[in-house]
Amino acid sequence: ALPEKVKIVEVGPRDGLQNEKTIVPTETKIHLIDMLSEAGLSVVEATSFVSPKWVPQMADQMEVMKGIFRKSGVTYPVLTPNLKGFQAAMKAGASEVAIFGAASELFSKKNINCSVDESLQRFDDVMKAAKESNIPVRGYVSCVLGCPYEGKVAPEKVAYVAKRLYDMGCYEISLGDTIGVGTPGTMSLMLEAVTKEVPVSALAVHCHDTYGQALANILVALQMGICVVDSSVAGLVDVPMLKVLQGMLLQKMLSTCSTALASRLEWTCPN
Ligand code: HMG
Ligand code: MG
Repeated sequence: ALPEKVKIVEVGPRDGLQNEKTIVPTETKIHLIDMLSEAGLSVVEATSFVSPKWVPQMADQMEVMKGIFRKSGVTYPVLTPNLKGFQAAMKAGASEVAIFGAASELFSKKNINCSVDESLQRFDDVMKAAKESNIPVRGYVSCVLGCPYEGKVAPEKVAYVAKRLYDMGCYEISLGDTIGVGTPGTMSLMLEAVTKEVPVSALAVHCHDTYGQALANILVALQMGICVVDSSVAGLVDVPMLKVLQGMLLQKMLSTCSTALASRLEWTCPN
């Protein structure tokens, strides 16, 4: 069975742009975000409050947040890896944030410069501050179907990190196939483990399309009851060589999957 309704969380302005070598002008980012909200999306992840030394492309996070048109009914979450990022996001007027952990130790180290358990401690600080300010927090788990440094990742490790994020108060956990190495088989094994620990209604999938498997993997997730899917407009890529689940892909999904599914989607791609 497929879900009645699917929520699309558009992450292109953040995940799609974050690794672009050429700095995209702030005005262009603002225009992109405004077009995405105009297109009818209800969630547009706008930017990240991370170190500009680590991710130069996101250094204009404050200007982006100040420049976008806040369409009523649309949320604009931003990534916050630590308390410093959270505080900056609050100054910029963010009304929702996301913390991002990993199911792989080496990926955690290379991405946010700490171990998985250290990251959970930092996230706990962010969570406490967010609760005080009544700010909803989304959680990401990276490398749920494989890691660029460690290879295979145990579904139990994914379930452990997802549960920790859920228990600390994340309202939704997005499971990231960061390097697109998942298959329908590994997706279903991983989801079996995670859904034992976290209610399926609180899960999302975030499937990079590196090897053209995102569509098939998303279908498995939908069949297993997941009804939140991350997308990246026009297949903007976050890491050189990696294609991200894209608006185009979603269109393909709509045309190739049953029309029943298409009519149940909350949002469909323009054109
Ligand atoms: P660190 O170097 O360990 O941080 O980096 P630190 O606490 O030791 O501080 C070092 C410097 O960074 C200091 O500045 C801090 O003030 C500054 P200095 O004294 O040297 O001038 N700093 C900050 N500046 C701005 N904003 C902050 C901040 N925190 C410290 N929030 C840190 C740790 C987490 C900051 C760093 O590793 C970082 O910024 N990483 C970001 C990585 C990132 O954005 N990755 C991409 C997003 S995750 C992703 O794409 C996966 C996802 O899509 C899901 C999937 O596909 O799997 C979500
Ligand atoms: Mg990603």
